[in-house]
Amino acid sequence: MFPCGFAWGAATAAYQIEGGWEADGKGASIWDTFCHEKGRVFGEHNGDIACNSYELWDRDLECIQQLGLTHYRLSLSWSRLLPDGTTEHVNQKGVQYYNKVIDDLLVCNVTPMVTLYHFDLPQALQDKGGWKSASVASLFDSYARFCFQTFGDRVKLWITINEPYVCAKLGHEDGIHAPGLKEPGTAAYLVGHNMLRAHAMAWHSYDSLYRPKQKGAVSLAINSDWVEPLHPGCPDHVAAAERLLAFSLGWFAWPVFVTGDYPEIMRSAIDAQSERLGHSGGSRLPSFSEDEPQVLGTADFFALNYYTSRKVKPGGGHGRTLCMKSDRDAEEVLDPSWPISGVSWLAVVPDGIRKLLNYIKDTCNNPAVYITENGFAQVGPLQIEDERRCEFYKDTILEVAKAVGEDKVNVRGYFAWSLLDNFEWADGTSVRFGLFHVDFSDTQRRRTVYRSGQEYAKMIQKYKSDQSR
Ligand code: BGC
Repeated sequence: MFPCGFAWGAATAAYQIEGGWEADGKGASIWDTFCHEKGRVFGEHNGDIACNSYELWDRDLECIQQLGLTHYRLSLSWSRLLPDGTTEHVNQKGVQYYNKVIDDLLVCNVTPMVTLYHFDLPQALQDKGGWKSASVASLFDSYARFCFQTFGDRVKLWITINEPYVCAKLGHEDGIHAPGLKEPGTAAYLVGHNMLRAHAMAWHSYDSLYRPKQKGAVSLAINSDWVEPLHPGCPDHVAAAERLLAFSLGWFAWPVFVTGDYPEIMRSAIDAQSERLGHSGGSRLPSFSEDEPQVLGTADFFALNYYTSRKVKPGGGHGRTLCMKSDRDAEEVLDPSWPISGVSWLAVVPDGIRKLLNYIKDTCNNPAVYITENGFAQVGPLQIEDERRCEFYKDTILEVAKAVGEDKVNVRGYFAWSLLDNFEWADGTSVRFGLFHVDFSDTQRRRTVYRSGQEYAKMIQKYKSDQSR
């Protein structure tokens, strides 16, 4: 039922697992800075040590093998490789670390999928304006070229930027992620724009300079909830749901997969709202320049991070302040019939993934899709027998199977978030997404497989043997 060569993976990100925040010449990232400021993160937690994967990579590799993964998605820390963010100064210890990780995976027959940017901008570049500054795009491109050049002989699956939506909105509109800016209604659009420019430049660099020899594939990871109108019979609820999708998936998928530009719904809403509130200085949503590398067509597959679903009704549009909520005029509502996982935002809606996959197939020209993240959060007392997470993975993977088998969506792989319990951003280590439990009170950061890890391993084994029949 899953195609031959289907990727069965798990994912992690550098800041969430590595630790070694200033080891061997690593430069600081915006998350190092953010966590070291008081009151930013739950319980003043930070990723200084995290799972200590910088020193305990061998343990992680054992976990990967224990699950029987065919693929492992990791991210590179930009400031571990290039401490000041530029290629002027390369940290060879960082290069050695990732070389070992990649080589070890390949020896064990595990294919690496490598993300270049997972929320952790070098602080040195933040000091020069960060993602709000137009020049960050070419600095990202240089970093990407450096990575393709250094690791691309062995890495064939690349993600440039993870979840530009989250970086833009949580980091620059809501201020709950690094760099902690609260500039509602303006900065997020600028940041999202520069991320798209950066991604497009890196894709073109790969395409012209590296693809001919390295023959890999490059995309960006787009996160989106599935959304439905609260009252499907009400046209304004239907329109609100469309607006919300345009402001989430569409924001990044339309420029890359559909039109080369932002969704029309987004453009007209932002323009109208700017005018209504008397905003001066042109549209808050930037325009793509013809003098720059084209954004349309800069993805070799669709990388989707899916966690949850929402019902939607109109709302937020009559505010007096400039903000994204007001622009999109769509209020999210949690359906009371959906159970909640450990965190309040994560309603468990396995069939949402099937609907979203079909939406992507229908609107984005039927691309090859990798589900690059999907997972279930646990909080409170440790439960190694995590029955609910087992159910979650079973149900979700069944929905993916239906999308593949019945709906003919071209899904190529599934990555569980996450291999390990790790540093869950603003929630610190209080929220656990791992297939392995990590004991953060133990200096050795002991890893113990959850029941869900064992069940995922069994599913992988079963599906792999179905494929070979
Ligand atoms: C991110 C991960 C994060 C996960 C769960 C995604 O937004 O890519 O880094 O841990 O969701 O919140």
